[in-house]
Amino acid sequence: MSQVIIFDTTLRDGEQSPGASLNKDEKLIIAEQLARLQVDVIEAGFPIASEGDFQAVKEIAQKISGPIIAGLARATTKDIDRAWEAVKYAQKPRIHTFIATSDIHLKYKLKKSREQVLQQAAEAVQYAKKYTPDVEFSAEDAFRSDRDYLCQVVTEAIEKGATTINIPDTVGYAIPSEVRALIDYLFDKVPNITDARISVHCHNDLGLAVANSLAAIQSGVRQIECTINGLGERAGNAALEEVVMSLITRKDLFKIDTKIQTQKIMKTSRMVSHLTGLVVQRNKAIVGENAFAHEAGIHQDGFLKEKTTYEIMTPETIGLKESKLVLGKHSGRHAFSDRLKDIGYSLDAEELEKAFTKFKDLADKKKEIFDEDLQLIIEEGIHQIPEEYTLDYIQISSGDKTIPTSTVGLRRVDGQMFLDASYGDGPVDATYKCIDQITGISGKLLSYSIQSATGGKDALGSVYIQVKFDGQIITGRSSSPDIMIASANAYLNAINKVIYVNQKKNKKD
Ligand code: KIV
Ligand code: ZN
Repeated sequence: MSQVIIFDTTLRDGEQSPGASLNKDEKLIIAEQLARLQVDVIEAGFPIASEGDFQAVKEIAQKISGPIIAGLARATTKDIDRAWEAVKYAQKPRIHTFIATSDIHLKYKLKKSREQVLQQAAEAVQYAKKYTPDVEFSAEDAFRSDRDYLCQVVTEAIEKGATTINIPDTVGYAIPSEVRALIDYLFDKVPNITDARISVHCHNDLGLAVANSLAAIQSGVRQIECTINGLGERAGNAALEEVVMSLITRKDLFKIDTKIQTQKIMKTSRMVSHLTGLVVQRNKAIVGENAFAHEAGIHQDGFLKEKTTYEIMTPETIGLKESKLVLGKHSGRHAFSDRLKDIGYSLDAEELEKAFTKFKDLADKKKEIFDEDLQLIIEEGIHQIPEEYTLDYIQISSGDKTIPTSTVGLRRVDGQMFLDASYGDGPVDATYKCIDQITGISGKLLSYSIQSATGGKDALGSVYIQVKFDGQIITGRSSSPDIMIASANAYLNAINKVIYVNQKKNKKD
């Protein structure tokens, strides 16, 4: 199966996104992650643009092994020298030189004739070739260029040694059928076209960057320039994750491979979003928060019966643990009872019906229903969890010169009293260890949070915890003006729940 080269330009075109700016260390962190993702080429920056850009490209070239490291240069000797100075340290360096070929750019921006630009392009490639065999040439604004002139420039660039020819849709103007037509035309009319790899670089001004990149692949293009999360100038570039997952999901159609380690996509997306400060929209394809979330009852029911009813790829493929069923007013009984089971409740048919009505009432008032809401519905509306253990006594000593120690007295439901003591890393740790000793049930504390219920120094402290008992995650909560009493009771609340859930399970078995 043939392969398409994934050329990532997150650190160059992506960094040109309005609002995104990365420092050298951040660029290096992203480059390391791109190498782990196994992109083929990292365009690390535009070395002549600033000293900071130069240093970042140089450091990436020195430190990153695996992918080709490319530096961008206009078609001038000064730019090319500077790009080479930065990328020369790479195991596999590339100089990427470009000049515009559309009449609009020639007339208003470059103020040059077609002949002058043709000559400049040829000279730039020839000059870059002195430094490295790997030279890429881009005909900026190719899709608004005269086709035959573009063929002339491409022929000349290949003649002078360009090994990759990039055809950018610089302003995101083309539609997929035009992309196919232009690429077909180039393959037809450029006599030496098979001496170079043909690439596209599509911008997303009309929301067509990915569609255009895929169309180009169908016409024989074998390098796609793209960015993580679709970052880039204006509306951005083709999103790497969308291109790659399209190729994988529709392998039946494209019959093409990439080297991308797709399980690293999510992590890379989050890292880039975090470091650039550019938040990924919720409903963005592949990496948006909603990309694997189902809310409609019919969808949730189908999904629970067979995932492929509503999912064309698995979340695991991009490194997500699982799909998310969002409980809301559109959800049905199936998803509702499944979620209850997941958080440790199994209800009989009558209880389920009652709980479902309460859930629908709440969902009418609240967009998304979380596990804590479900817990309240069940514990306050359906069952009162029987309290196997209650706190009878607690004494804690802690401070900067003492070992935190807790003495706890618990009363069991049959009236029997238990007393024990323990020490720990802090008063909560000591108390929880002590409760474990008495009950013989040991939980792993996953999270602990405390909030004051009202303002003022005398406010109630509400403790909310998540505890893992043998694979079951159970929440516990309690409030008290004394936060240590609230902490102990929250843990007992979780222990009582796990005892109750297990008793119900045993009865059923
Ligand atoms: O959009 C564009 O044309 C570019 C080139 C420099 C490749 O970013
Ligand atoms: Zn661009």
